[in-house]
Amino acid sequence: MVSPRILSGVQPTGNLHLGNYLGAIRNWVEGQSQYENFFCVVDLHAITVPHKPETLAADTYTIAALYLACGIDLRYSNIFVQSHVSAHSELTWLLNCITPLNWLEDMIQFKEKAVKQGENVNVGLLDYPVLMAADILLYRADKVPVGEDQKQHLELTRDIAARFNYQFCREKPVLKLPEPLIRAEGARVMSLTDGTRKMSKSDPSDFSRINLLDTPETIQQKIKRCKTDSIRGMTFDDPERPECNNLLTLYMLLSGKSKQEVAIECQDMGWGQFKSLLTETTIAALKPIQEKYQAIMNDQGYLESVLRDGRQQAEAIANDTLSQVKAAMGYSVPL
Ligand code: TYM
Repeated sequence: MVSPRILSGVQPTGNLHLGNYLGAIRNWVEGQSQYENFFCVVDLHAITVPHKPETLAADTYTIAALYLACGIDLRYSNIFVQSHVSAHSELTWLLNCITPLNWLEDMIQFKEKAVKQGENVNVGLLDYPVLMAADILLYRADKVPVGEDQKQHLELTRDIAARFNYQFCREKPVLKLPEPLIRAEGARVMSLTDGTRKMSKSDPSDFSRINLLDTPETIQQKIKRCKTDSIRGMTFDDPERPECNNLLTLYMLLSGKSKQEVAIECQDMGWGQFKSLLTETTIAALKPIQEKYQAIMNDQGYLESVLRDGRQQAEAIANDTLSQVKAAMGYSVPL
């Protein structure tokens, strides 16, 4: 029996934070044995905002090592680098030519990032979702596990695939429409300094997020300084207490306890007591990931061989889809 296929990815812009872990990678790890999985480090997406050439390669390796450290298992999963498989760029161009401009101008993330960048907005930022669609469609992925913020990009991917199939291969569709896989809990981890804003790599303050590679001291300082309110007793789902809901949810996910258990355990706690508990739990949850990460980084040859194998597996499927797309569009076969 053929397993359904998964594709997902993370950008190598700086470190991974708890939002990336709880919204995406943790779910990849938990579900991986049921699927055939492709996880890429999306380094072509990383240059849609100004980037540092000196650190791009090292950041890419860091993310690949973190995938392994978080528990991606090579028995079920392939890890590869997006720019190592040239079909991603090529399919993006082909899909660009059938994607209406106003679909891209409507993307919330584009609008948000464009506002932040002011005059300095490049075409790549607008085109970001088409590259993401190419990532997914090349592998004929059945499901795409992501955080809540990527939902609109997945809807766009489905629209692009449907439009392609309708225009070029109505009888025998080439592209598969993927389903998003967004878990209710952890799909939107909020900032430590403002519980109404998403935890994000692009927030200028590092105190707004906990990174997977933060030291215990840094984690302690960040939780100590994070925003709270003046109410005693911790409660879930109170719209007046976004920080409280966010931190309780983090505690629930990192401790592995149920929502009900956490609600009872923390209902009478003051902020001081709760923050100590959250600090201890976060440090303990990240410790095994950090240890495994160090071991992997000490063996560069191993990481390179993982990425080489991943690339080979990825290329076989990606090139096959690309050939079918080109044939449907009427391209001649190279002689
Ligand atoms: P990136 O690197 O911005 O985010 C990677 C993953 O982390 C999730 N995420 C969050 N989840 C919960 N709470 C948060 N605060 C939070 N912040 C980020 C994102 O939803 C994402 O799942 N465009 C993608 C990268 C990408 C991709 C793909 C994903 C490129 N091609 C193909 C899936 C399939 C992105 O947001 O990366």
